[in-house]
Amino acid sequence: MTTLVVGASGATGRLLVEQLRNRGQKVKVIVRSSDKLPEALKSNDNLTVICASVLELSDVEISQHVNGCRAVASCLGHNLSLKGIYGQPRRIVTDATRRLCNAIPCQGIDFTSLND
Ligand SMILES: NC(=O)c1ccc[n+]([C@@H]2O[C@H](COP(=O)([O-])OP(=O)(O)OC[C@H]3O[C@@H](n4cnc5c(N)ncnc54)[C@H](OP(=O)(O)O)[C@@H]3O)[C@@H](O)[C@H]2O)c1
Repeated sequence: MTTLVVGASGATGRLLVEQLRNRGQKVKVIVRSSDKLPEALKSNDNLTVICASVLELSDVEISQHVNGCRAVASCLGHNLSLKGIYGQPRRIVTDATRRLCNAIPCQGIDFTSLND
C-alpha cells in the first residue's frame, strides 16, 4: 500500500510519514523542500520524495502522483508566520484539498485532511 502525503515537511506530516514507514508502508511525499525531512527517512527505499509546491503542479501532474496510491493524506496548513498566515496562497488547504480530490478516481482511494 502506498500513501501520498502532502504537507509531509510539517510537524504533523513528519509524524504521519514516520508512522506509515514504521508500519512498513510505502510513502510518497510532495514537499517544497526535502531539507526538513530526516536524513534517515530520505534514504529509505520505500519513500518517494517529489519536490514541488502542490498548488503549482498541473492537474495532470497531481493525477500522476495520486496514481498507484491507496490513500492520500493532507497535512498542509498555513505556516505560523505573518507571511504564512496573511500572504499567498490564502486558501492553501481548501485549494489543495479540492485539487487532490479531483485527481482521485471515484473509488479505491481514501482521502483524509487534518482540516476536515
Ligand atoms: N484537526 C486536528 O486535530 C489538527 C491537529 C493538528 C494540526 N492540524 C492542522 O493541520 C495543519 C498542519 O499542522 P502542523 O502543525 O503540521 O503545521 P506545520 O508544521 O506548520 O506544517 C505545515 C505544512 O504545510 C506546508 N505548507 C505551508 N504553506 C504551504 C504552501 N504555500 N505550499 C505548499 N506547502 C505549504 C508546509 O511546508 P513547508 O515545510 O515547505 O513550509 C508544511 O509541510 C494546520 O492547519 C493545523 O491547524 C489539525
